[in-house]
Amino acid sequence: MSSETSQQNDEATPNRPVRIRADVVENRDEGGVNRRLRLRAHDWPGSRPGQFAMLSPGALFAAGGFDPLLPRPMALFRESAVDAASELEILYKIHGRGTALLAEALPGQVIGLVGPLGIPFPEPEQGERAILVGGGTGIASLFDLAQRALGRTGGADTTSVLLGARNAIDLLGVGDFEALGVDLRCATEDGSRGHSGRVTDLLRQALDEDPDARVYVCGPTAMMRACAEIALSHEASCSVSLENGMACGFGVCLGCAAPVGEVGYQLVCCEGPVFDARQVRWEEIP
Ligand SMILES: Cc1cc2nc3c(=O)[nH]c(=O)nc-3n(C[C@H](O)[C@H](O)[C@H](O)COP(=O)(O)OP(=O)(O)OC[C@H]3O[C@@H](n4cnc5c(N)ncnc54)[C@H](O)[C@@H]3O)c2cc1C
Ligand code: FES
Repeated sequence: MSSETSQQNDEATPNRPVRIRADVVENRDEGGVNRRLRLRAHDWPGSRPGQFAMLSPGALFAAGGFDPLLPRPMALFRESAVDAASELEILYKIHGRGTALLAEALPGQVIGLVGPLGIPFPEPEQGERAILVGGGTGIASLFDLAQRALGRTGGADTTSVLLGARNAIDLLGVGDFEALGVDLRCATEDGSRGHSGRVTDLLRQALDEDPDARVYVCGPTAMMRACAEIALSHEASCSVSLENGMACGFGVCLGCAAPVGEVGYQLVCCEGPVFDARQVRWEEIP
């Protein structure tokens, strides 16, 4: 988030969510099924790292009637102030019908948006090393955190970003992380960029270098579980951001419940999406 919009945020309390309409400024093909959506919004209160928004599935009134009806959760990749408005950037992958319709939204059309939603990541302490691990669409949840961590911890030697994907094209937003100047390490399964293998190999290596680091993870469940196990075996604190399917985004439908805590469930949309990795009962997540 830009310093301008972040100034609206109290450090301790996330801003209250709003329901707004935002103008599409750009909706760019980034290779493969990856897209970058830039929206211009008035009255956007500003978000904290790890928060998300529920976006209308495509431009408002573009699809016939109310089909599809439900909005889709998307991370707020980056925010900046432009003139008197906020510009919101969303990086997304075309997955099913909703994101396919989103990909058809044209500049000048309007997207419906509810946010910012969810509990943000706890930010690293001054001088504490942060290791951010992203895979798949989870990468989009980490940019704002990387930016903030870099400012807080004092430099690239204390902010590492480890990104993993099947191939180089699927490394969402890698150029943006590169431009930030963090310690960026990539892993691809086909070896087309960085380490040939999994991002978990990079996490093991980074924690061997600094076992006192704080770990943040967002990505597919299997990857997050493996990262949580590695972090816990190094006794490092680890926050994960779960990407459960969501129908409402603010605690009404109960559709996003996840096995978190000693017993029972927590709602990923409003009690998460960020949880302490030790609290998640991974073996109960399909
Ligand atoms: C916090 C969060 C942040 C995310 N950030 C990003 C991001 O930045 N970039 C990105 O590419 N992806 C992100 N995702 C994943 C993204 O939301 C999905 O890829 C997207 O919703 C798929 O929609 P679709 O219509 O294309 O796919 P489909 O599989 O066709 O649609 C999913 C359908 O299932 C419905 N559904 C899902 N869960 C439930 C439920 N519990 N109850 C009822 N209906 C349900 C949805 O409403 C929708 O109709 C994020 C997910 C979460 C939870
Ligand atoms: S998405 Fe409806 S309660 Fe969480």
